[in-house]
Amino acid sequence: MSSTETTQIIRPARSLQGSITLPGDKSISHRYAMLAGIAAGTTRLSNFSTGADPHSSLACMEALGARVTHKPDRTIEITGTGGIFQQPAAPLDCGNSGSTMRMLAGLIAPHPHTFTMIGDHSLTLRPMERIRKPLGKMGARIDLVDGHAPITIHGGPLQAIDFETPIPSAQVKTAVLFAGLQANGTTSLTESIRTRDHSEHALRAFGATLTRSVSSGADTAKLSIAGGQTLTAIDATVPGDLSSAAFFLCAALLFPDTNLILDGVGMNPTRASLLDVITALGGKIKILNVEEHHGELTGTVQVNVSPNGLRGMHIDGALAAQIIDELPVLAAIAPYTTDGITIRDAQELRVKESDRIALVAKNLRAMGATFTEHEDGLVIPGNQQLHGAVIDSGSDHRIAMAFSIAALRATGDTEIHGAEAAAISFPEFFTHLNDLSIR
Ligand code: S3P
Repeated sequence: MSSTETTQIIRPARSLQGSITLPGDKSISHRYAMLAGIAAGTTRLSNFSTGADPHSSLACMEALGARVTHKPDRTIEITGTGGIFQQPAAPLDCGNSGSTMRMLAGLIAPHPHTFTMIGDHSLTLRPMERIRKPLGKMGARIDLVDGHAPITIHGGPLQAIDFETPIPSAQVKTAVLFAGLQANGTTSLTESIRTRDHSEHALRAFGATLTRSVSSGADTAKLSIAGGQTLTAIDATVPGDLSSAAFFLCAALLFPDTNLILDGVGMNPTRASLLDVITALGGKIKILNVEEHHGELTGTVQVNVSPNGLRGMHIDGALAAQIIDELPVLAAIAPYTTDGITIRDAQELRVKESDRIALVAKNLRAMGATFTEHEDGLVIPGNQQLHGAVIDSGSDHRIAMAFSIAALRATGDTEIHGAEAAAISFPEFFTHLNDLSIR
């Protein structure tokens, strides 16, 4: 991140009370921004994410020829290119955003230009071979530096492929679907662990046809998308970000007399296993005002905790993949549970915006917790009281926010160093935390 380092002091709290509306979902904002940029006509998006990452996607779409207008109240209007991208005058800067780099690679690869994609230090450490492989099979020539960004894409016509995803990754799936939309023939993709399906809903919302068939077992599914389809602008409201809500849902678990209401939160079933986890840990959740728009569910979530307190659980397999972004905050509150939390099969955490297993371990240790670190997760016993400490966010937004939540029930104050990283997905986080905390 380029902004200067800031520190936030988090004082212990007694409970959380109140109601907030969450800014738009990061994953959906990226996809709407990209598809609006390639569609014909002007798309109007209300409640667009306020996080820096989706704004990196918007800036890239502008560089490719879309017109982006910022209106009041988090509304963005995007006049699309009608399927013809221009040669950008400068490298496409993806900032800290893996979603921008990976998904956009699929969208631009079929266009007859040479594209360079760059990012910040953290993004330059993240694996990119995972998109070169399928896009390369489709005929795209992609240069990486030792498997990483900067990426150079020598774009041109692509051929459809039949691809089996080796790792559960919605970003890779999206890159293939976005390229398949513009390829010759029908592209198919099989995934054995169901990842978030915002791209499928977004593509349909913008007018594309794609099919999903379940072949063997409940989770293995084949998606097919015919090439040569054109997209048309939409009007949409982006649902509130459930991954941002996760910090407050976990905070609610820490105090018996908490009562929180989170309005307009995205409830897409491929993201909502988090709510089952919160319930299994002892949270009591009520969902009201459920609505569906463009295939995405939203609802108002009311949360408090059962008087029996906070239980523990094992998280592994498909569940670990489905709540991958929420694992840092679950790990940060794990010491306060009665039975502890075990997280396994989560090796992907090591290649996110930081090595999240190592940074969670470092910060849990600083707060006085004992636990075992594994290559693919952490085993964190319960019944531990943490103390205030100096926390290193490692410039990772989810680490900064996760340990701000752990700090609410610690003894003494906690200093979150690198707190500005929260703005990558949730710039309003510290203001909401302060407003909701009763001390
Ligand atoms: C995302 C998918 C996940 C997630 C990331 C956002 C998306 O990554 O961790 O924060 O919007 O598709 P992977 O698809 O690489 O697992």
